[in-house]
Amino acid sequence: MKSYLTHLECTACGLIHDASELHTVCTACAKVLYPRYDLASVARVLSPWDLAPREQNMWRYFEVLPVLDATNVATLGEGGTPLMRANQLGESLGCTDLYIKDEGLNPTASFKARGMAAAVSKAKELGVTKMMVPSAGNAAGAMAAYAARAGLEAHLFMPKSTPQSNILESGIAGAEVELVDGHIGDAGRIARERAVTTPMFDMSTMKEPYRVEGKKTLGYEIAESLGWTLPDVIVYPTGGGTGLLGMWKAFAEMEEMGWLPNSNRPRMIAVQAEGCAPVVKAFLEGADHCEPWENAQTVAAGLRVPGPYADYLILQCLRESGGTALTVTDDEALACVREIAVAEGIFACPEGAATLAALKKLLADGTIDKDERIVLLNTGSGLKYLDLFSG
Ligand SMILES: Cc1ncc(COP(=O)(O)O)c(C=O)c1O
Ligand SMILES: [Zn+2]
Repeated sequence: MKSYLTHLECTACGLIHDASELHTVCTACAKVLYPRYDLASVARVLSPWDLAPREQNMWRYFEVLPVLDATNVATLGEGGTPLMRANQLGESLGCTDLYIKDEGLNPTASFKARGMAAAVSKAKELGVTKMMVPSAGNAAGAMAAYAARAGLEAHLFMPKSTPQSNILESGIAGAEVELVDGHIGDAGRIARERAVTTPMFDMSTMKEPYRVEGKKTLGYEIAESLGWTLPDVIVYPTGGGTGLLGMWKAFAEMEEMGWLPNSNRPRMIAVQAEGCAPVVKAFLEGADHCEPWENAQTVAAGLRVPGPYADYLILQCLRESGGTALTVTDDEALACVREIAVAEGIFACPEGAATLAALKKLLADGTIDKDERIVLLNTGSGLKYLDLFSG
């Protein structure tokens, strides 16, 4: 297996960057860089059916992942999560073709493992020894684990309100942890200040080009689970938007390689919390960028992102796909945690459960039809949020 990575390309101005060098954002316009591959060659050497005998983890898509030398891969077995039919939940909603992609089964119990496995491995390949990330929690836990696995140093900056599990798992894995007043934006500011005195590579969401590559394997897996077709609708709890954008990128790549001859792209639906909904607001106003959300508040820590860096890409994706964006309340999300657990035995995180609360609204207003093929993304395990459910 060989990676067909060729270069990095700016998503805004198109400027090409050398992928053998360490980059964060575009050197000309500071927007998001996307890794690009020689997909024509991948299509010649690999058909999707060749993947069948490979291991059930995200590295089965090695040709379209950015690590060149497999010895640099720091893996804990991330990816390969089940796309489960949710028949009982479907029955109670009247849906005939409902699925949950359960990302709680990843190492560190969230989908952040995918992004960090790719980014930490690539950082190691490019000679990084110290990394930092501001995080709402799960990204920090994942970075701590993959940094340990790769033998690199991780410095993590989290809001004080971050779930205990994330703070503990990070410290236990040997990372340097600093808790800050405020939200993830404030954590980012402190992290950048610290990086001036102690040089550390910045792994912030969408300011580093390779986390999205790990997340895009969600899109490859959904297609593979459905026999190389795509669902009609994907409902995604949106913070910084990496998973949403990763899936959208995966669909474009698979189309270019001719892997999806009989499939249209799904409508992408962004779910946010009522107490922090910059993407929903911008989407509804027809804006191309988000305004920073004041006083962001939600128990769904991963959705507490007041100003997503890739806002323009998220909004483009929602519009191009014919999707939408909507909010749910914390109470609605928490009630759905219980509903998913009772109906399907999956203890979802509040972010993941928010997708069910959103689905109910979209069925009620006719945005989604009951006979459509629907995928809900449960992005992590409820076990990481025990403080929300005790008592
Ligand atoms: C459990 C969970 N769900 C969803 C999200 C949002 O993910 P993204 O920032 O990729 O939109 C996060 C981010 O922290 C998360 O931890
Ligand atoms: Zn640019």
